[in-house]
Amino acid sequence: MSEQREPVGVIGVGWVGLVTAACFAELGHPVVARDILQEKVDSLARGEVTIHEPELGDLVRRNAERLTFTTDMTELLDSARLLFVCVDTPPTYSGDADLSRVRAVVEELPEGSEHVLIMKSTVPAGTGESIRRDLPGLSYVSCPEFLKEGTAVADFMNPDRVVIGADAGDEDAAGAVARLYQPLGGEILRTDVASAEMIKLASNAFLATKISFINEIANVCEEVGADVAEVARGMGLDERIGSSFLRAGIGYGGSCFPKDVTALKMLAGNTGYHFQLLTAVVEVNELQKRRVVAKLQRHIGSLLGKRVALLGLAFKPDTDDMREASSLVLAARLQGEGAEVVAYDPVASERAGELLGSVEMAGSALAALDGADAAVLVTEWPEFAALDWAEAAGRMARPLLVDGRNFLDSESLRAAGFEYEGIGKKQEIGAPS
Ligand SMILES: NC(=O)c1ccc[n+]([C@@H]2O[C@H](COP(=O)([O-])OP(=O)(O)OC[C@H]3O[C@@H](n4cnc5c(N)ncnc54)[C@H](O)[C@@H]3O)[C@@H](O)[C@H]2O)c1
Repeated sequence: MSEQREPVGVIGVGWVGLVTAACFAELGHPVVARDILQEKVDSLARGEVTIHEPELGDLVRRNAERLTFTTDMTELLDSARLLFVCVDTPPTYSGDADLSRVRAVVEELPEGSEHVLIMKSTVPAGTGESIRRDLPGLSYVSCPEFLKEGTAVADFMNPDRVVIGADAGDEDAAGAVARLYQPLGGEILRTDVASAEMIKLASNAFLATKISFINEIANVCEEVGADVAEVARGMGLDERIGSSFLRAGIGYGGSCFPKDVTALKMLAGNTGYHFQLLTAVVEVNELQKRRVVAKLQRHIGSLLGKRVALLGLAFKPDTDDMREASSLVLAARLQGEGAEVVAYDPVASERAGELLGSVEMAGSALAALDGADAAVLVTEWPEFAALDWAEAAGRMARPLLVDGRNFLDSESLRAAGFEYEGIGKKQEIGAPS
């Protein structure tokens, strides 16, 4: 008889929770996953995964025997000692992290509970300490999640590092969590709870800083006639700098960077420390999305009544997540200038349609480009690289493209008849025609 693996409980079955549940099931653990949304639990129990995340649906269906989805907290508490908290921690109006869902979970734990609460949700430093204060008997481990949407399953299964934070008295609990991750082979970093919480926030803030930095370099490149792709390549070869996250574009979005950068800024501010650098990182990111409008205006003048096609809406490829997507700001700005906006995304159109009611959704990239006066590539979906751009040029009223991700080959686009503008490249023209 094969050895029974330690059961795992998961609370909150969104991107992080479902990946966590499915991956631990794949590693042979019986998993009970609890969400408060009955509809979500029902569809997962039928093997239907409603988010677009490569490999995840297959993993859920393949491990159906080891995966139980429920809305019942008691069923979860009875089934597993190790409970991963994966609920959402969105921003409040002030920019602080909203911990109400985390608090709701803590309130459901029975007094004297012998469970181990493992915090995967991204929370401000100090959260673990305050939960431990409220529930003195509880074992608490901080285990922040670093997966990236679009490659979440692969990231979970091949982690760069697993951070496990525990304070005095919770060494055994931390050891139990470390054993769960041992088979994955990534470096396991054991530390205290506050440091683990800070590692997560600092990592995201640093990556966002890299993006805003290269975007500012791109903006200077445009002025001095340099090419930011070449600059980034040359910088990235320096091993002290590294090449990742040095890709200029129209800014970061998504469910994590915007809220985590602001949450860290607010966390610092709440202690009386003004985190100046992050203030600039956020501002650069906001302005970067808006620069596209000026680029279009340089070519076609006023956007009033012009039809502008957005190619891609999701905050990045291989996901249908629209949280804080750059497309949302861009569509609003274009409409604010009087443009008629039409959009296409291979998987996010439905989610996006709920947020962008006044934007026309097209069924294909070519349909979106039909009759358009300009196009903006917003998300670097591979299908856009494979598009027949000569045909696209023929269909557009004016074949003008702003490549917001420097994704397409500018020479081929120009050969296909396009006026092409990237980010951080020499400007094709300087004044409105
Ligand atoms: N999405 C990412 O790429 C990512 C990566 C790393 C870390 N994180 C962090 O992980 C956390 C979860 O993010 P997500 O993107 O998976 O969120 P999500 O919004 O996709 O999922 C959260 C889920 O929790 C459920 N929920 C809320 N309250 C609950 C409760 N009391 N009991 C059970 N379920 C409850 C919601 O119904 C929802 O299904 C956040 O703190 C986020 O910052 C996310």
